[in-house]
Amino acid sequence: MSWRDWVRGAEVEPSIYAADFLHLGAQIETLLAAGARIFHVDVGDGRFIPPVTIGPILVQAIAPPIHAAGGRVECHLMVESPSDQLALLAEAGADSITFHLEVAPDPASVIASARAEGLGVGVAFNPETSVETAAAAAAGADFALCMSVHPGFSGQAFLPESVDRVRRLRELVGPELLLQIDGGVGPANARSVREAGADLFVAASSIFYADDIAGAYRSLAAVVA
Ligand code: DX5
Ligand code: ZN
Repeated sequence: MSWRDWVRGAEVEPSIYAADFLHLGAQIETLLAAGARIFHVDVGDGRFIPPVTIGPILVQAIAPPIHAAGGRVECHLMVESPSDQLALLAEAGADSITFHLEVAPDPASVIASARAEGLGVGVAFNPETSVETAAAAAAGADFALCMSVHPGFSGQAFLPESVDRVRRLRELVGPELLLQIDGGVGPANARSVREAGADLFVAASSIFYADDIAGAYRSLAAVVA
């Protein structure tokens, strides 16, 4: 089923970047039981962003329980050579990848390569990248990911100008393309981003740093509902 048809009105997408990796399986089960259907995996190569983060072997571990519960695994590729990662991630069980326009001179070819691997695909763009560029590159993708922090780490503050960037992007791309927002998303800003037209709300620290991660997921889901 296409991503557009599969996504409910709006989805909160826990990013496991801020998870407790000693207890990752239990935290994923808790969030699945709380209603989470998309898990966001931040793949970093130590070049496009400073840290090397996580990748296919982790996707391989978490994809089976997520799929068994009817969920999907979305991989945000913060890497300089996204095309090199597609086959490995697809094989590991990823359902979609999002790549950065800043390192993709020919976005249409990355979109085609991802589709050839059976992956859903999104185009991500940094706070400095023009929304017009992103809108043009997103033709043929399932979603566009507007970064609301500079990519690299969890726990950064939401850049307030991101709300207007999402609104402008929605005007440019029309109603069909899913819009994802990533970075500093929490109860204080999610409603305004929803009203600006976003559908997918990536959240790491606002969920995983809470004492009650299921409660934090549910309250954020209620804010964007
Ligand atoms: C950071 C990643 C984000 C990160 C979000 O650049 O792309 O997905 O995990 O973390 P929070 O929600 O804490 O800003
Ligand atoms: Zn991310």
